[in-house]
Amino acid sequence: MAHYLRIGEIPPKRHTQWRIESGPSAGQLHHEEVMGEEGFSSDASLLYHLGVPSAIVDSEVWELPDLQTTANHPLTPRHLKLHDLFKDGEEADIDPVTGRRLVLGNGDVRISYVVAAKASPYYRNGVGDECVFIEAGSGRVETVFGVVPFRTGDYVVIPRATTHRWVPDGRVQAYAIEANSHIQPPKRYLSRYGQFLEHSPYCERDLHPPTEPFLVEGENVEVLIKHRGNGPSGLVGTAMTYATHPFDVVGWDGCLYPYTFNVSDFEPITGRVHQPPPVHQVFEGYNFVICNFCPRKVDYHPLAIPVPYYHSNVDSDEVMFYVDGDYEARKGSGINRGSISLHPGGYAHGPQPSAIEGSLGEEYFDELAVMVDTFRPLELGEGGTAADDGVYAWTWAGRGPEGHPGRFSIG
Ligand SMILES: [Fe+2]
Repeated sequence: MAHYLRIGEIPPKRHTQWRIESGPSAGQLHHEEVMGEEGFSSDASLLYHLGVPSAIVDSEVWELPDLQTTANHPLTPRHLKLHDLFKDGEEADIDPVTGRRLVLGNGDVRISYVVAAKASPYYRNGVGDECVFIEAGSGRVETVFGVVPFRTGDYVVIPRATTHRWVPDGRVQAYAIEANSHIQPPKRYLSRYGQFLEHSPYCERDLHPPTEPFLVEGENVEVLIKHRGNGPSGLVGTAMTYATHPFDVVGWDGCLYPYTFNVSDFEPITGRVHQPPPVHQVFEGYNFVICNFCPRKVDYHPLAIPVPYYHSNVDSDEVMFYVDGDYEARKGSGINRGSISLHPGGYAHGPQPSAIEGSLGEEYFDELAVMVDTFRPLELGEGGTAADDGVYAWTWAGRGPEGHPGRFSIG
């Protein structure tokens, strides 16, 4: 993120003496931390701590939730019903971090789903950035950079290694996209120095970072860390205990920080004939992209077919999460709000046949979906397997193998 911010108090010159003026540590130097990406060669921020940011008094194993995956073999398009994964009322005992159920994953990205109402433990992802889409609900994320409030439709983007905790205001439904890399706006939206260009569907004003420091006093504070290791998906967990509270940053400046972006601030790009998925792109990470299909006027050529053509995006697995509205191209497939469709590479897909005729003459699609396209194949996590409807693959033909007749009419 090229947008430079300066929050709270910082000294006039970096890497110089700056003493604490009052309180129990008065007279001592602030502890400066440079938090930077790509080996001090990319975006960074300088944070000024009251305590010592590396002072830990314990380090123990944190057993991560189930991150085992199963290959999508034999190759099958799938419909995963995320709303089946959590029962109503269960959320009171579930938090948005440790309650995540892995739906799909590969060596570059993991997609999880959680319905939670409880505050999370302090946590940081030591593997990559997180982009958590809020399907429903509101609350705040407390971080070392300050507080980021969130609401329905927000992408909450949290840089790798940012210590934080989630504090929901009641029930929150969240779709967590965890990268093993960084997540940022597509390069083509940015000038060579990083400013959003005029053709970008959003710009700096639509991003909402913390606005002031967030200080908490405390000792012996446990922080859960997800990091690289020899566990399932190449990950393991550690619980570190800090001598003093990690939320002790009185000020920071730089280009690395958490922020939210609300999907309703994405200005859709439309055309006379069908526009390809890259016009819907919102973010990207290494080997994957995130797009959103927002409510919009649709193709206005007199002979336009508003739903997509059949397509083989030969290098990608495509994951659509149907969030809201009425998803035209999937009419007749059983897909509804809270559904995921997985259309794997090596397989052409497109609308159910009845949806094509049904879309002719439509002027507006009231639909909201978040798409993740990955260049490496996705495997099913335990949540993905549990949410699989088992019959989606046969909905284009209207019949499947013996014993799987398909239950959807496509007439
Ligand atoms: Fe597609």
